[in-house]
Amino acid sequence: MAGTIFILNGPNLNLLGQREVDVYGATTLGEIEEACRTAAAPLGYAIEFRQSNQEGELVTWIQEAREQAVGLVINAAAYTHTSYAIPDALATFDGAKIEVHLSNIFKREVFRHHSTLSNQVDGVICGLGPKGYVLAIEAIAEIAGS
Ligand code: DQA
Repeated sequence: MAGTIFILNGPNLNLLGQREVDVYGATTLGEIEEACRTAAAPLGYAIEFRQSNQEGELVTWIQEAREQAVGLVINAAAYTHTSYAIPDALATFDGAKIEVHLSNIFKREVFRHHSTLSNQVDGVICGLGPKGYVLAIEAIAEIAGS
């Protein structure tokens, strides 16, 4: 096993499949988790997939990733645009880090155009729907494996 990749999801993403389907699509978070496991297994990585509606819990999980993970994928949802604690926590994580958004945040309201996280990650994927999570895992495998 090449290691564990933490995949952390922020507020309201538990409602994927029911929530603003025109924006986020019909795929549920459970289905995204399954796709992540399917993508990670042949690359030799285990997945720790979590969702929280609370900012502090996401911070605690990033700190946990410091001890347990070689890479981290984060969709911080609305905290992407408001949080300082999440980028501060990401700065303490030395492994590969990718920020993911299902929707193209740059095609949406102006408040979504800025991410407080982006300068703390190796790469950002947005607008590609659930596929973005799979691409993020592949990117982490490349970065972590090199
Ligand atoms: C999101 C984009 C955010 O602006 C929004 O608050 C979300 C989801 C996305 O995946 O497209 O909740 O991170």
